[in-house]
Amino acid sequence: MSMPQNEVEREEEYRNPTEVKKSQIVMPCHANHCQELSVGQLLKWMDSTACLSAERHAGCPCVTASVDDIHFEHTVGVGQVVNIQAKVNRAFTTSMEVGIVVSCEDLFSGRHWKVCQAFATFVTQRPTGEKVLLRPFVPRTQAEQVEHSLAAERRRMRTVHTDIMKDLLTNRAFHRVEVQETEMAVPAERTRVESVELVLPTHANHQVNTFGGQIMAWMENVATIAASRLCNAHPTLQTIDMFYFRAPSHVGDRLVLKAIVNNAFKNSMEVGVCAEAYQGEEPLRHINSAFMTFEVCDSYGKPCTLPRIRPEPLDGWRRYQEAIARRKIRLDRKYIISCKQTEVPLSVPWDLSNQVYLSYNNVSALKMLAARNDWVLNSEKNKVSLYTLEKKQVLSFMIEFETDISAERAFMLLSDLNRRVEWDPNYERCELIHIVDDDDFLYRVVTPLVGWGSASPSANPQGIAQDFILLASRRQPCDSGDPYVIALRSVTLPTHPPTEGCNRGEVLCAGFSIQEVSKNVSKISYFNQASPEVLPYISTDIAGLSSSFYSIFCTCNTFLQENRDKPDPAGDQQPSSPVKTPL
Ligand code: COA
Ligand code: ADP
Repeated sequence: MSMPQNEVEREEEYRNPTEVKKSQIVMPCHANHCQELSVGQLLKWMDSTACLSAERHAGCPCVTASVDDIHFEHTVGVGQVVNIQAKVNRAFTTSMEVGIVVSCEDLFSGRHWKVCQAFATFVTQRPTGEKVLLRPFVPRTQAEQVEHSLAAERRRMRTVHTDIMKDLLTNRAFHRVEVQETEMAVPAERTRVESVELVLPTHANHQVNTFGGQIMAWMENVATIAASRLCNAHPTLQTIDMFYFRAPSHVGDRLVLKAIVNNAFKNSMEVGVCAEAYQGEEPLRHINSAFMTFEVCDSYGKPCTLPRIRPEPLDGWRRYQEAIARRKIRLDRKYIISCKQTEVPLSVPWDLSNQVYLSYNNVSALKMLAARNDWVLNSEKNKVSLYTLEKKQVLSFMIEFETDISAERAFMLLSDLNRRVEWDPNYERCELIHIVDDDDFLYRVVTPLVGWGSASPSANPQGIAQDFILLASRRQPCDSGDPYVIALRSVTLPTHPPTEGCNRGEVLCAGFSIQEVSKNVSKISYFNQASPEVLPYISTDIAGLSSSFYSIFCTCNTFLQENRDKPDPAGDQQPSSPVKTPL
């Protein structure tokens, strides 16, 4: 599986055909009064660079549909150079995901550092309004393959984003928060800003559509004014939450931008901005709403304590509470999504507000492990192959075999963890704790006292039972050619704490990737990033002392063959014996 030398060389020569680069020296006209590049200007450059990359692939005009969360890691000073690189990660039907990386360069010291990274979605648009179907983007390098695969997972998250936010904001837990009254609290209305802009041809592309980046820049401007009114100092923009352009805007539109501080926490505040457009007597069209987090730093760069806010009645009070809910989601998203996939602490407690991000993390960790090209074939027996991958003290293994069953049927059978007891001797009992949605399930798995196939005494030296709380996330292919994926990772559940007399084991990253070979043949790959609990079970196989992996996956194959045409006990769609418990 490791890549031959000449392919590696070719990879070095290869340049993604959609890649677009922009370099710009930051001049005083691009900066704010603190001689730092204004974020609005940066957003315009990011948007136009990404749009050119999207158009390179689409071959027709494109507009910004949405931008995922952006975390700004550093500010950029006048005289420094901003380097922006954008490339298409994946084309869907009429939309594409474009990855954008922004770095800063100091010309005198030669130093480079990352400013931010963003994922924007662009949609094709003909002047006549009809949609243009995109040709697929074919990834060539390993890095492109990983991004291509993860793009499908990020798209899934984007499409449910609005619903998740709605659900969470109506969650009563966040509505019990009391306003912390202090004499020093600043009335929210003091931070309110309203500003109007006329969209001129310079603000629009060749199709007279207003550039998304221009709208974001105007939004950032009013948000900064609102934030400054709270702290009477210079605020720094830390984060812009994921947002969506609901409707287009054109040359001649009047854009009305409104902003207010929704809530102030100890060291950060949330400013909400709303952009609406009108022409003549027309009613206002809602273009975009965004939530931005600012902080204020002292001269040593340490965050200052902010005054509290006193919200206005009704909408102000609702936004105050919703800002608290968004803050929790923002933190979950930042730590669960942007951490290296398998470095998200296993102790992250699963709850409804972070479910989508843990599910994303679960699937993307497996996809990244599967996409590695340095797997080494360790042993093979009757076409069941065992591969290993060692990286920085972490050992992962992959077991691969082909079987006469359709990929979809294998996926249905293997994604029901309850049925794993039928073929895996390491699964003594399995209990479905909770059906999260059609694709995500929480299980408790109990392993027997003895280890993997031939008992390994070191696996369970104390001879006590071991259990795992697993999040199982399954995905159907997004396009033909994509595999079916079943990802497993440990989570903690307040309703299921470890019990005495039972070791709580942890799974970092495990699961199946099932690739269709032909209509009734599929290639099954099982992955496991070996945690200390799993390692002893497999190490004897890897060392060539046993081949228990072979016997387990032969039993798995027999299970698949025997159930190839049988109807499932609990219907085909969901794991058997569903247990719905309120969590
Ligand atoms: N994030 C990312 N992509 C999204 C999305 C979101 N929140 N909502 C929809 N899309 C994607 C869909 O997945 C679909 O992609 P696909 O064809 O590859 O499957 C595509 O947008 C079209 O979706 P559809 O539901 O058919 O269209 P729509 O009627 O909801 O329109 C836009 C979507 C983006 C075209 C429309 O909202 C729009 O014109 N917005 C303004 C865009 C603009 O002008 N931006 C510049 C600044 S004003
Ligand atoms: P919501 O009111 O549900 O938060 P909107 O899309 O109406 O959603 O507004 C987004 C944000 O824009 C609000 O949270 C608020 O911070 C800001 N905003 C909306 N309307 C006004 C207004 N009239 N004046 C000042 N800021 C506003």
